[in-house]
Amino acid sequence: MSLPLVVVPGSASLTLATRLADELGAELAETDIHRFPDGEVYARIVSEIEGKHAILVQTTAPNDNLIELLLLQDAAREHGAAKITSVIPYYGYARQDQVFKPGEAVSSRAVARALATTADQVITVDPHKEAILDFFFDGAHSVTAIPQLAKKLGDWGVEVILAPDKGARAHANEAAALLGIPCDHMEKTRLGPTEVVMKAKDLDVAGKSVAIVDDMIASGGTMITAATQLKQQGASKVYAVCTHGIFTGGAIPKILAGGIDRILCTDTIHTDGCDTVSAAPAIAAQLLAPLLHA
Ligand code: R5P
Repeated sequence: MSLPLVVVPGSASLTLATRLADELGAELAETDIHRFPDGEVYARIVSEIEGKHAILVQTTAPNDNLIELLLLQDAAREHGAAKITSVIPYYGYARQDQVFKPGEAVSSRAVARALATTADQVITVDPHKEAILDFFFDGAHSVTAIPQLAKKLGDWGVEVILAPDKGARAHANEAAALLGIPCDHMEKTRLGPTEVVMKAKDLDVAGKSVAIVDDMIASGGTMITAATQLKQQGASKVYAVCTHGIFTGGAIPKILAGGIDRILCTDTIHTDGCDTVSAAPAIAAQLLAPLLHA
């Protein structure tokens, strides 16, 4: 018999957790989470969770949100959850997944190890690299929000999908395949000490409606540079698309002022000021899959 499900929202992911509870037809737990005057985090799961499958939902950036998830996992274990799944919509520290310079920490692995001690299952959305799942334990899963993003791009009449660089091709390829449209990646060519041209490697974007698809947007610098050049090359529309809208330092207005027509992201990080699709259906499908096949 399957365990009753209870979705426990972390404060960084309340909107997505509420949507996930709806998708699952599950209870949304009441929590009491606040900060002490010295900055320490307090976390309590108020609802009864004993014997239930507790699905904790919390993006782990910035740092306070990571601590909150660690505390929620501890609270769930302490109060008798029969199973703990940590849904980490946006997994922070994912980009430091190896030693780039001698003496560095492998931050992605360090954080995963800490979280893995009290979670039975981990699900994350479009991680920077799939290999970071191995830092948790065997059976940590990722799901993708690319189908939801692609559907919206289809509604907008996008004709070409571009990755900002070769390393970001996987998500762009997937979106293009779903829409049945061409995909390429951008390449930088240095013309002089200060002049760099960025263009699609093989495709001509003149007169085309183009979406640049990346896993995350932080400062927006990557998208602004790419969009400026694509517009100069005649693209009719340029959309900035990502799963994780980090948007540091007032990035959204800067991106919109930088030649991007619209920004599309998901609700893995709560954000206002751009178009958003939800990652909840993809996460719910992953959670329900074992039950359907039981
Ligand atoms: C890099 O590895 C990531 O996939 C993104 O391309 C990058 O984090 C975007 O950063 P920004 O928006 O600051 O250019």
